[in-house]
Amino acid sequence: MPNGCPLSGRKRHERRGTSRMIRSVVRGFGAALPKRVMTNAEMEQVVDTSDDWIVQRSGIRQRYIAGEGETTASLGEQAARAALANAGMTPDDLDLIIVATSTPDNTFPATAVNIQNRLGMHHGFAFDVQAVCTGFVYAVTTADAYIRGGLAKRVLVIGAETFSRILNWTDRTTCVLFGDGAGALILEAGEGTGANTDRGVLTASLRSDGSHKDKLYVDGGPSTTGTVGVLHMAGREVFKHAVGMITDVIQAAFDATGTTPDDLDWLVPHQANRRIIDGSAKKLGIAPEKVVVTVDLHGNTSAASIPLALAVAAGDGRIKKGDLVMLEAMGGGFTWGAVLLRW
Ligand code: ACO
Repeated sequence: MPNGCPLSGRKRHERRGTSRMIRSVVRGFGAALPKRVMTNAEMEQVVDTSDDWIVQRSGIRQRYIAGEGETTASLGEQAARAALANAGMTPDDLDLIIVATSTPDNTFPATAVNIQNRLGMHHGFAFDVQAVCTGFVYAVTTADAYIRGGLAKRVLVIGAETFSRILNWTDRTTCVLFGDGAGALILEAGEGTGANTDRGVLTASLRSDGSHKDKLYVDGGPSTTGTVGVLHMAGREVFKHAVGMITDVIQAAFDATGTTPDDLDWLVPHQANRRIIDGSAKKLGIAPEKVVVTVDLHGNTSAASIPLALAVAAGDGRIKKGDLVMLEAMGGGFTWGAVLLRW
């Protein structure tokens, strides 16, 4: 199957629902943002830029910036507590926490273990996934594999970032684009028939290609410079690849399940750039009113952007139980991927 990870290998007979299988079903969602909002007008005071340029090129109008005491783990904890409350669960109900982040509180221990402790959870296990902006898509796919493999029943999946701390605040080509925040989903094992009408994760398609490293990377690390480093991006180069890569993995998810853009209720893309989002939806024939856009409010929050967007659209009642939802992202590595699920 082109572009499909092994998890996407649903057989045709399963699609018709002739077998019983475990599905990873969404039980709750939550989000958290730093207290401080930074508008484009404020950004004009920091670098030589304008609200017009930022809005035209990216669609971003504001972003949230973590202040003193706000970290990836603290934002992740808040999002986790909101998701637990939404699901009517407590940390006792969880077996596993997976955190997608490229901006951990510490090199180790994992931010997931930090959040586990903050939640007062001393059973089960927790680990981080690092796939930059595709991190949440990778983390949901990983959670689904653990659930379907019988290793966990209830998984808290968090995307949390403080990208403001790895930005070069004198580089106007990057610092205007990113923001901080966190979002979370709780996935629980449920029984399905194998049909596309099942609730839960239906398929995933993951990709990476390290030959693109120089187009988007952070120039530090424990094993190289011994420093954290700052983000570098060849924006035009990333843009050139983005729409093609994103549409490939979305198409792979449609093909693996025999679904089409007409069947989709919501596309919830990684929120990097309005033009990439619109271009991808147009290429696939996904109607603009089915696309959830929050890049104007949050900027690019990397692995947090999809769960933040899910929390907005499920919170305001757009995404409803039973809706078919496509998640997609592309980011540093390059990494890219899509998850198709029924809410
Ligand atoms: N304000 C004003 N002018 C600016 C700014 C700014 N903040 N930044 C750049 N410019 C100027 C440039 O210097 C250039 O000027 P020049 O023509 O005189 O040289 C001009 O604006 C155009 O610059 P481009 O880079 O060509 O602008 P582009 O239309 O490509 O938009 C952007 C830039 C928004 C970065 C776009 O390329 C993009 O979104 N790229 C993809 C980003 C992305 O999706 N990343 C992946 C996920 S992120 C992750 O994984 C961490």
